[in-house]
Amino acid sequence: MRGRFITFEGGEGAGKSSNVQLVARFLRDHGAEVVVTREPGGTPLAEDIRNLLLAPRDEIMQADTELLLMFAARAQHVGALIEPALQRGAWVLSDRFVDASYAYQGGGRGLSMQRISALEELVLGGLKPDLTLLFDVPVEVGLARAGRRGDLDRIEQEDMAFFQRIRDTYLQRAEAEPQRFQVLNAAAPLQQVQEQLLGTLTRCWQQWSQP
Ligand SMILES: Nc1ncnc2c1ncn2[C@@H]1O[C@H](COP(=O)(O)OP(=O)(O)OP(=O)(O)O)[C@@H](O)[C@H]1O
Ligand SMILES: [Mg+2]
Repeated sequence: MRGRFITFEGGEGAGKSSNVQLVARFLRDHGAEVVVTREPGGTPLAEDIRNLLLAPRDEIMQADTELLLMFAARAQHVGALIEPALQRGAWVLSDRFVDASYAYQGGGRGLSMQRISALEELVLGGLKPDLTLLFDVPVEVGLARAGRRGDLDRIEQEDMAFFQRIRDTYLQRAEAEPQRFQVLNAAAPLQQVQEQLLGTLTRCWQQWSQP
């Protein structure tokens, strides 16, 4: 049986990375093979592209360059890691995926959503996450959490309006595809976020683990 694909989305400091491990543990405890990965990155080559994308530099990166590098990394990630794992029946958990391109390069940078969807079609074909967990948090709260980590990468150095557009775009996408998205109130204390998450997972597990 083909595996299931769950993506974790949301702005900076929303709690994606903190919660991936909880989901992985839940699924492993239920006997599933789980592959945890992230974007941009997930394979050695795609991680090299991540470093190109995130390193602060004097030369201004063109928005199209950023978009194409994101999809170049994604092509490698899907072909070399995600698709083979799904084919052997593993559950794949990805810390960000294609919705992040719509939110950051589309909402944030203002690139055309049609062009992003053309790249999605080219690179992913019909591959869609089975479930997308959207960690939704007010921008100020997320940035304050992320800021505690120290040095900001190239994208984290953007202004508040940029991150507000990202949040808005994510919420619009969730509203347009309510069957794929589960929006979590990530402003709540971590324990409450985890309770929301375990409720969703229990439902999905029951639904999907039936032969
Ligand atoms: N619900 C929460 N309440 C309070 N603090 C939280 C909560 N969730 C996560 N944190 C803390 O906020 C910080 C950012 O969390 P995390 O790294 O999981 O976010 P992220 O969504 O992965 O961020 P990024 O997009 O920058 O990778 C961490 O220090 C984490 O411990
Ligand atoms: Mg993270």
